[in-house]
Amino acid sequence: MEIKTDFLVIGSGIAGLTFALKVSKYGTVAIVTKKNKIESSTNYAQGGIASVLNDGDSFDLHIKDTLITGDGLCHEDVVKMVVENGPDRIRDLEGWGVKFTGGEGDTGSKYDLGKEGGHSKRRIVHASDFTGQAIEKALIERIESNKNIKLYENMIAIDLIIQSKVNKWGRFGADREDTCWGAYVLDIKGNAIHTFLSKVTLLATGGAGKVYLITSNPDIATGDGMAMAYRAGARIANMEFIQFHPTCLYHPEAKSFLISEALRGEGGILRLGDGTPFMKIYHSSGDLAPRDIVARAIDNELKKSGDDCVFLDISHRDADLIKRRFPNIYERCLSFGIDMTKELLPVVPAAHYICGGVVTDINGETSIKKLYACGETAFTGLHGANRLASNSLLEALVFSHSASIKSVKDLKDDRKSPPQIPQWDSSGAVDSDESVVVSQNWDEIRRLMWNYVGIVRSDKRLKRAKRRIQLLQEEITEYYWNFTITSDLVELRNIAIVARLIIESALTRKESRGLHFNRDYPERDDANWKTDTIVDPRGRIQ
Ligand code: FAD
Ligand code: SIN
Repeated sequence: MEIKTDFLVIGSGIAGLTFALKVSKYGTVAIVTKKNKIESSTNYAQGGIASVLNDGDSFDLHIKDTLITGDGLCHEDVVKMVVENGPDRIRDLEGWGVKFTGGEGDTGSKYDLGKEGGHSKRRIVHASDFTGQAIEKALIERIESNKNIKLYENMIAIDLIIQSKVNKWGRFGADREDTCWGAYVLDIKGNAIHTFLSKVTLLATGGAGKVYLITSNPDIATGDGMAMAYRAGARIANMEFIQFHPTCLYHPEAKSFLISEALRGEGGILRLGDGTPFMKIYHSSGDLAPRDIVARAIDNELKKSGDDCVFLDISHRDADLIKRRFPNIYERCLSFGIDMTKELLPVVPAAHYICGGVVTDINGETSIKKLYACGETAFTGLHGANRLASNSLLEALVFSHSASIKSVKDLKDDRKSPPQIPQWDSSGAVDSDESVVVSQNWDEIRRLMWNYVGIVRSDKRLKRAKRRIQLLQEEITEYYWNFTITSDLVELRNIAIVARLIIESALTRKESRGLHFNRDYPERDDANWKTDTIVDPRGRIQ
């Protein structure tokens, strides 16, 4: 089937939905999303959105905190743009019906503002600890009542439709200006591949936590947008900067349930198995140090003690306050038999956020014409070498806004229709009788990334990882072209590409900075490495 639309949005998290609502006044919008409409990292966000909403705070302070956390690699113009746009974008959400928790008494703000690591002020606006769910619900309600938007569930984008490939000019359109005309999309339930033709395409496919064995991310986070953009010839940057969240619940059934940093913002203390607090040894901000420092400190303590987890303690705070402020976390932990008002929470670090992604400019435009990227899949220059807590929902909001303005202008200036596009050709492919290959490779990649490309790295481990991923990629590519495409296979191919981009970017950077720590180069080296790691369209790393 061929579906024609003005705007194609791939992904139904905060980035995709916000963009869709904004552009829907100017054209038809199709949103494709690979599971049900709410399934996204956005839906699980707890802490909230960082923004300057308090009399005692200022843009300058939020900018300064972002730059310090980013460890020398943030693009200052982008940081300024994002921070200064924050309050307006929060008002957009309120206009769409999101209700944030209100402040009590004379706090200088109408919001109850939370605090998280690396922030010098209370500035996290939240809807108790269900922030993402509140946002997702309100945006989906708006989308569903909008006649210009059609949302397709259980549809996974396989590849972008790129002019140079259609014209058979060669594998990459690197040396000429290339154009995106939509995507080939697999209807998972209907078992058919459709051609979505669009005048503007937005990649809003979120992050890639599933590349790692232990992650806070939901199953959708397989780096599809980054892999599709890479295959299409777009520029990708800073893939080595993977953020590990310090505190995911350590419990066999919890599937790395996140324990929000906001808990430490309300006085939570990290303790060793014998009850000793340890964060002050590592950083003057103690439990509220930036995330890279806390995650590395926990990793170090676990390696020293041989224990499986450390503990997070908030039991000294008033039980009613804990239940009121963290109802989601409280109930979830209780369902695992842990009463956090009285007991310590067992926690471990888990892969949480990727700072790198598809390179965009200040309008969310990628290096390919008519292709935009927003949210976690994009690299905008905001986060540098480490993301400040609660800056990612903010980034998604601000860039979806700027991308909407620019792409509407594009549409008005150039109404050219897509050229004749061939339908997807699956002739020759047969159904696989060996789906064990997919699960085996999937497991192997996630394990090798966790063991060799984790919180603390070394050249020896990275080189081992590179050798293994090359072999796995060869096997996956052969399998991909011979057998009928399934969503598992699409995702496997993508996590393999993303894993390779992370490994190669990590091997390239011969220093330690922010989230990238290599034992062989333990110091930050501004003279040689104060620069982004760009993967150019022909797969070379600069
Ligand atoms: P997502 O919300 O992940 O949405 C991606 C969408 O793309 C999904 O709908 C997915 O199904 C779809 N998709 C993916 N691939 C395809 C494909 N091939 N075809 C079709 N559809 C596809 N950040 C903060 O700022 N504050 C927080 O408090 C916070 N808490 C967090 C808590 C958790 C547990 C997690 C995991 C993350 C948290 N983050 C937080 C990070 C933040 O939630 C994400 O960075 C942000 O939500 C990403 O939004 P997005 O729209 O880019 O992607
Ligand atoms: C959290 O609530 O700890 C997550 C916040 C974030 O990822 O920014």
